[in-house]
Amino acid sequence: MQNKIIDGKSISVEIRNEVKAQTEILKREKGITPGLAFIIAGDNPASKVYVRNKGKACEEAGFYSVTEHLSENVAEKELLSLIEKFNKDDKIHGILMQLPLPVHLDTRKIIESINFKKDVDGFHPVNAGNLSIGEKCFVPCTPLGIVEMLKREKIETSGKHSVVIGRSNIVGKPVAALLLRKDYNCTVTVSHSKTPDMKLISSQADILIAAIGKANYIKKDYIKEGCVIFDVGINRVEDSSAKSGYRITGDVDYEDCFEKCGMITPVPGGVGPMTIAMLLRNTLDSAKGVVYER
Ligand code: GUN
Repeated sequence: MQNKIIDGKSISVEIRNEVKAQTEILKREKGITPGLAFIIAGDNPASKVYVRNKGKACEEAGFYSVTEHLSENVAEKELLSLIEKFNKDDKIHGILMQLPLPVHLDTRKIIESINFKKDVDGFHPVNAGNLSIGEKCFVPCTPLGIVEMLKREKIETSGKHSVVIGRSNIVGKPVAALLLRKDYNCTVTVSHSKTPDMKLISSQADILIAAIGKANYIKKDYIKEGCVIFDVGINRVEDSSAKSGYRITGDVDYEDCFEKCGMITPVPGGVGPMTIAMLLRNTLDSAKGVVYER
């Protein structure tokens, strides 16, 4: 009997162990150490935590990694020349520009300056385009984590109706493009904040991807009996019983939906830990040259 809770934490540990083992082989047989460069501009506390955690994960996997922390008011020229340095550095196989950027910087211009062959976040327009036409490319880490969970849990996707709620470039659009590919063969509906009757759409989903950014938005009357739910939400809600005064909750009302759904990812411990695991795998793939030739 399949477990009803999709345990992203333990699947991510499995993947991280696989990456570590393959990294050892790559070092031994080819003398290549996967290298990832992190760039962060400004002092956004959440971004600093994310980058620190990703750096630790690199270390555990046996990667080489560097972090460049720039000031909030860094000049565009300085940032572009740092990216160019990493573009040319043979020890670096992945470049991660932590988002959001300070407001004076043009996100599109900065992302486009990253060599798309080192764009392990999958945000460069070349990778976004290749994803939508079914070509090999770097796929953004959160969507990749979701399909990896589908595979490892042996959840049938072919012919299933998947409903994506949210149309961001980081999650909604790429996960929709991925599920539409011939590897998954889903029928895909993308809905968003201007969709007039969300319940009508979401309740038709066999596979529901919630990436809206609204705490506990999806209740049991939004879902179909037996559906599989991926909750991408990371929302802070006040909780006086917690030491910090808040707790993290998803976009899905977990308690309300648990009985009715077939399977569900918890928050925390579901989609979140998969994102870092897939970043490591993308970087390993870049070092191996299996996505684009090096
Ligand atoms: N900010 C929030 N999530 C991400 C991510 O996955 N990659 C980058 N570069 N920035 C982010």
